[in-house]
Amino acid sequence: MFSNEIYYCEPVYRPPSEAYSLLIQATEGCTHRCTFCVSNWGKKYKVRAFDEIKRDLDTARRIYGTRVEKIFFLDGNAMSMPYQNLLEITHYAKSLFPNLKRASLYAHSKDILNKTEEELKSLADAGLKMAYIGIESGNNDLLEAVRKNQTAEDVIAAFHKCFKTGITPSGTIILGLAGRNRDLSVRHMKDTADLVNRASPVHVVTGKSIPPWYISCLALMIPEGTPVHKDTVSGKFTPMDSDEILYEMKIFIENISDDVSHCIFRSNHASNYLALEGVLRKDRDKILGIIEKNLKDKSDIRPEFYRGL
Ligand SMILES: C[S@@+](CC[C@H](N)C(=O)[O-])C[C@H]1O[C@@H](n2cnc3c(N)ncnc32)[C@H](O)[C@@H]1O
Ligand code: SF4
Repeated sequence: MFSNEIYYCEPVYRPPSEAYSLLIQATEGCTHRCTFCVSNWGKKYKVRAFDEIKRDLDTARRIYGTRVEKIFFLDGNAMSMPYQNLLEITHYAKSLFPNLKRASLYAHSKDILNKTEEELKSLADAGLKMAYIGIESGNNDLLEAVRKNQTAEDVIAAFHKCFKTGITPSGTIILGLAGRNRDLSVRHMKDTADLVNRASPVHVVTGKSIPPWYISCLALMIPEGTPVHKDTVSGKFTPMDSDEILYEMKIFIENISDDVSHCIFRSNHASNYLALEGVLRKDRDKILGIIEKNLKDKSDIRPEFYRGL
């Protein structure tokens, strides 16, 4: 008798664009401890054994048949899995689901840098087509303060490596990460725009068409149990309000250069005060117009109680 239950190590988080994907627990927790992130605290990092993952994939095959088109490998940084394990589960998933269009996962920039170009190419060929990478900020002081364990240069190198190997990178930026600190907030946004300008595929992909890539903004949430929550309660950290967050997004968009093209920009994650979508740099003025309007009339601002992670 087979069980019809797929194992999850709760709570699980996935990007908004993976809402209809089959979620498969490949790792548990995360190898990092960023001060703002809830997905690591309370979970012990673990790479699940192939047999356990295989059992869940087999169960999903029995439940959904061959309908599955997208798979998202949980957890916080599933790209940290050893190359062979990741290749094996991607191959197995593809063998069960012939209609699979892509497998994807969360990846810390260093998980990508720790794999060779050949390994990343093989993973992409096997079906691992997208990596969600936490940029958070392009400002190295802020990255250090939030214990991100990466620099802007690491993120740029990781994006370039993805473009060269056929993995689509999707980067997330956290608005409000500097808290109510005007000087750091401006540096946060200018340096983040600079990082995105330098991460653009135009710097590494030559002789063929520029691939689409993704940049999303999230707005800082203060989850209980995290160091940023402790600092907020003690008064050491003051969160920004919706106007300040919008103003940060404005600085970011204003500083995007002509180097950026084919970049799908979104702020549709539930943490945001203002949901936007456009293509950078093409739609820069349109996006800025909507931000300006909402700074004045707040007509599209999401109420605080609707925000979430
Ligand atoms: C579950 S994490 C996985 C990302 C991946 N481990 C990495 O670091 O590159 C996904 C993203 O959610 C965002 N995030 C996590 N905690 C957040 C918070 N408290 N407020 C807003 N965004 C947050 C960050 O952008 C983070 O990179
Ligand atoms: S943001 Fe990413 S790297 Fe940092 S703790 Fe969360 S899951 Fe891990």
